[in-house]
Amino acid sequence: MAKTHLVLPLIFLLVLQRCDLFVDSAIGVNWGTLSSHKISPFVVVDLLKENKIGKVKLFDTDPAVLRALMGSGIEVMVGIPNDILGTLASSAATSDVWVSQNITRYMVKGGVNIRYIAVGNEPFLSSYQGQFQSFVLPAMANLQQSLAKANLAGYIKLVVPCNADAYQSASLPSQGMFRTELTQIMTQIVSFLNSNGSPFVVNIYPFLSLYQSSDFPQDYAFFEGSSHPVVDGQNVYYNAFDGNFDTLVAALSRIGYGQIPIAIGEVGWPTDGAPSANLSAARAFNQGLINHVLSNKGTPLRPGVPPVDVYLFGLLDEEQKNVLPGNFERHWGIFSFDGQAKYPLNLGLGNGGLKNAKNVQYLPPRWCVANPFQNLDGVGNHIKLACSMADCTTLYYGGSCNAIGEKGNISYAFNSYYQLQKQDAKSCDFDGLGMITYLDPSIGDCRFLVGVTDSSCSCVGCGFFCGFWIVTLWVFMYLKILGSL
Ligand SMILES: *[C@@H]1O[C@H](CO)[C@@H](O)[C@H](O)[C@H]1NC(C)=O
Ligand SMILES: *[C@@H]1O[C@H](CO)[C@@H](O)[C@H](O)[C@H]1NC(C)=O
Ligand SMILES: *[C@@H]1O[C@H](CO)[C@@H](O)[C@H](O)[C@H]1NC(C)=O
Repeated sequence: MAKTHLVLPLIFLLVLQRCDLFVDSAIGVNWGTLSSHKISPFVVVDLLKENKIGKVKLFDTDPAVLRALMGSGIEVMVGIPNDILGTLASSAATSDVWVSQNITRYMVKGGVNIRYIAVGNEPFLSSYQGQFQSFVLPAMANLQQSLAKANLAGYIKLVVPCNADAYQSASLPSQGMFRTELTQIMTQIVSFLNSNGSPFVVNIYPFLSLYQSSDFPQDYAFFEGSSHPVVDGQNVYYNAFDGNFDTLVAALSRIGYGQIPIAIGEVGWPTDGAPSANLSAARAFNQGLINHVLSNKGTPLRPGVPPVDVYLFGLLDEEQKNVLPGNFERHWGIFSFDGQAKYPLNLGLGNGGLKNAKNVQYLPPRWCVANPFQNLDGVGNHIKLACSMADCTTLYYGGSCNAIGEKGNISYAFNSYYQLQKQDAKSCDFDGLGMITYLDPSIGDCRFLVGVTDSSCSCVGCGFFCGFWIVTLWVFMYLKILGSL
C-alpha cells in the first residue's frame, strides 16, 4: 500500500514531463549567440518551447546554452567551429576529450538531446581559400571513433554544413556540380555521410542572390510564382530555393549519391540593413518557405521529398556579427535580440503566430542622446569609436534609422554604445556631448534599444518556481491519496 502512494505522484510527474514533447516537424531554428545583448539562455529555451520549436542548431557547444537545454527534449545540432578542426583532425586523443567534455557529459537522463554534430561551419567556403579543407575528413574520422567509444555513434550523427557556393555555378539546376577542386573531398565526405545515414546539410540564401546581383529577378527569390521561371528541359523552376536545391541534387547525383537525404542548415531573410531586407519581405519569404516545405511537394528532381530538416536563420538578431557580407548580417532574427517577434509568422507547429519571450530582464528605461545644448562639431571621433564597438548598421542606406537626420544619427550612435556598456553613466559622456534621457527617443520604425542584463537570476528563479510547484503537487497528491484510502 505504501508503494502506491509513491507510484501515483510519479506517474503524474511523468505526465508533466511529457508536456515537453514537440510536434514532429522539419522546421527548426539556428540559435547563434554573437550578441552583447544576450537574454538568459533559459529565457530562450522557454521561448523555443512556447513556440513549440523542437529542433535547434547551435554554432558551438557553449555550456551555458547546453545547460539551459537540459531536460527540454529539444533536438540539438551542436557545432564545431572551423578553427578547432585542425586539432581534432590531428589527434584522436583530443577528439576523445572534446567529445567527453562537450557531448558525453550532456548525454544523461534529463540531459541534452544532441542528435547531430556539425563538423565545421561552411568549411569549404571559397573565401576561406581551402584553409580548412584538409581537416574536415580526418576530424570526422576521429570524432566518429570517439562517439563509438562513448557508445553514441548510433544516436549522434556527424554532418558538414556547406555553403551553396560549393556547387552553385551552374546556370541550370540539372547541370549542377561541385567546384572542381572539391569533387574528390565531397565524394569522400558524402560517402561517409551516406554510410552513417547522415543527411547532406546545405545553407541556401536566395536573399544573397538578390542582394548580390541586380539582374536577379525579384519574384524568383520568393514563393509566389515568378514571371521569370527557369526552364530546365521538362522541369520549370518558379523559385530560387527549388532551383538551388535541385542544383545540389544534380551535383550529388554526379558523384553517385543522388538519393542522399538533404537538410537545410540555414535559410532565412534579414529585416534591416539593406533595402530588400525588410519586415514584409522577410515575412513573405519565411512564410512562403515554411508553407512550401510543409506542403511536402518537394522539387522537380525530388518530387514529394522535401528536405528532412529546415533550420531557419535565425532565431534572434546578433549585433556583434561581422558586417563584411553587408549591414543586414546583424538582422536575420525572426525575433529581435530580446526575443520579441518582428512580424507574424506561422511556423506550422500548431500554435498559430509567434509568441514573445517572457521574463526578459531589461536595463532601466534610459537612453543616451546628443545634448541639444552643445555644439556637436567635434563629435566625429566619438561616433567612430561608438559605432566600431556598438551596432550602428540601421543608420545606413536601406536601414530602419537611415532617415533620422544628423542629430538623430549622433544620438543613435551614443545610445548604442551606452547600452553596450550596460548604461554605465560614464559611457554617455562623450566629452559632455551626451546626455541621459528618460524619454524614449525612438522615431517611427527606428528603435533606440534598451539593453538587457545577462543575469542568470531568471533561471534560478524559474528552477525554484517549478520546483516549488512540483513539491506542492506531490504533497497535494499524497494527501489526496491518503484521504481517499
Ligand atoms: C568544451 O567543453 C568544455 C567544458 O565545458 C568547455 O570549457 C569548452 O569551452 C568546450 N569547448 C568548446 C570548443 O566549446
Ligand atoms: C522590401 O523588400 C522587398 C523585396 O526585396 C522590396 O520589393 C520592397 O520594396 C521592400 N519594401 C520596402 C518598404 O522597402
Ligand atoms: C546619418 O548617417 C548615415 C550613415 O553614415 C548617413 O547615410 C546619413 O546620411 C546620415 N544622415 C545625416 C542627416 O547626416
